[in-house]
Amino acid sequence: MISGKAKLAGVMGWPVQHSQSPRLHGYWLDQYGIDGAYVPLPVRPEDFESAFRALPKLGFSGVNITVPHKQTALELVDIVDPPAQQIGAVNTVAVSEDGNLIGYNTDGFGFLENLVQGSPDFNPTAGPAVVLGAGGAARAVVCSLIDAGVPDLRLVNRTRDRAEVLADSAHGPVNVYDFSSIDEALDGANLLVNTTALGMEGNPSLAIGLDALPVRALVNDIVYAPLQTELLKAAATRGNPVVDGLGMLLHQARAGFEKWFGVMPDVTDDLRAHILKGMNG
Ligand code: ATR
Repeated sequence: MISGKAKLAGVMGWPVQHSQSPRLHGYWLDQYGIDGAYVPLPVRPEDFESAFRALPKLGFSGVNITVPHKQTALELVDIVDPPAQQIGAVNTVAVSEDGNLIGYNTDGFGFLENLVQGSPDFNPTAGPAVVLGAGGAARAVVCSLIDAGVPDLRLVNRTRDRAEVLADSAHGPVNVYDFSSIDEALDGANLLVNTTALGMEGNPSLAIGLDALPVRALVNDIVYAPLQTELLKAAATRGNPVVDGLGMLLHQARAGFEKWFGVMPDVTDDLRAHILKGMNG
């Protein structure tokens, strides 16, 4: 039940009907008994600027931004939080008391929090990290690992130029490898993360050998459909600790929820089950 004083948030995207965010934030609003609402906001690209600028006038506390508006939102916000600038995209917006739009990117936070929850002993400073992919998701993962103090980040991408561009803009110890020298990249690694679309339902699976990867290395796939990708299955079979990708989606949402509704929510097994049910239904 919401009152006339309910706090408002939502997700702006086009299309937006497949977004799990209303289900996710709705779960937390119920769980914490908060007087608030989180709604889908389908906004066409040509309407984005006017709809976005109207948020303070409509009394919104903030929104999530999804495809295809994340880069446009970065250009339109009044204040940009440094990670959003670094990643080049805004996925979370808060409206300040004086009506300014503040742009954040919470993907890197979600990525790291997921690793910490799924593998409490993981220490990003303990050794090299191998990141597969150089797209938008890789950018967030790379920035967060550098901020966390990773000593050597080995970036592997099909298109080498794209990895070089990301490495140049990352301000950290990033070294670019080709898939043909993946064994060299995996040698001595402490973490392996797949940020490519490979392994996602409908895509080819990621065909890399893990022989060169130490068995103590943590393996994470940010693909979460399916939850157990071929990469995670192969890693678990040889004894590596593994963390699946659903948690990144759930943890990145916590930061926005706290800004809008004033409570930092938890990611629990029950929430995971609730979201998986939504995805499959
Ligand atoms: P996102 O924003 O979700 O990260 P993206 O920017 O389209 O998506 O990036 C997709 C990543 O998956 C890229 O690293 C891409 O490699 P390229 O830069 O070479 O395109 C990688 N990828 C997608 N399909 C691939 C394939 N068949 N083989 C290898 N890498 C692939």
